[in-house]
Amino acid sequence: MLRCMKKYFSLEDLLREQLRDLFNAEENYNRHLASFITTATSIKLREQLKTVEGVTRQNIKLLAEMCNELGVPPQGVTCEAMDGLIREAKDTTSDWGDTATIDAALIANAQRIVHYEIAGFGTAKEFARVLSHKTISKTLNEMLQRAVTTDQELTRIATGGWFNSGINNEAADVAA
Ligand SMILES: [Fe+2]
Repeated sequence: MLRCMKKYFSLEDLLREQLRDLFNAEENYNRHLASFITTATSIKLREQLKTVEGVTRQNIKLLAEMCNELGVPPQGVTCEAMDGLIREAKDTTSDWGDTATIDAALIANAQRIVHYEIAGFGTAKEFARVLSHKTISKTLNEMLQRAVTTDQELTRIATGGWFNSGINNEAADVAA
């Protein structure tokens, strides 16, 4: 409690720190996406992860602009949570033998990460809204919607659609 009070004097301070944390998280994720893309064997999954790479690049730029607008440098905060998620993602994809299982693991990792992004963007969006930072709130809402779409696309690749089975089924078939 005391630590929080030292660091955050207001919701405005908290918003700034959250945006800096998200900036670091997106930078970290973006740095590692190339290796996840290379590891993916499904063309659909690889294309989706390439889209995510582009979205994270855009998020980095947008978060830097928001930080500048609020008068803080975007750099200087480490997002330990994203660091942990990426470390876990690298661990779980390094030893798997079967290709469909590797893809299933990559989707599991990407969905953990996108859920973290959804929580982060959604919370920051609400902080910005109540603080009347209209443009920032609107931009964060757009980032949130793109993250939700990514989550839905990953689910679709994992579970398949009406006419084809997803990666999870392929991985299960190999195991059977
Ligand atoms: Fe974080």
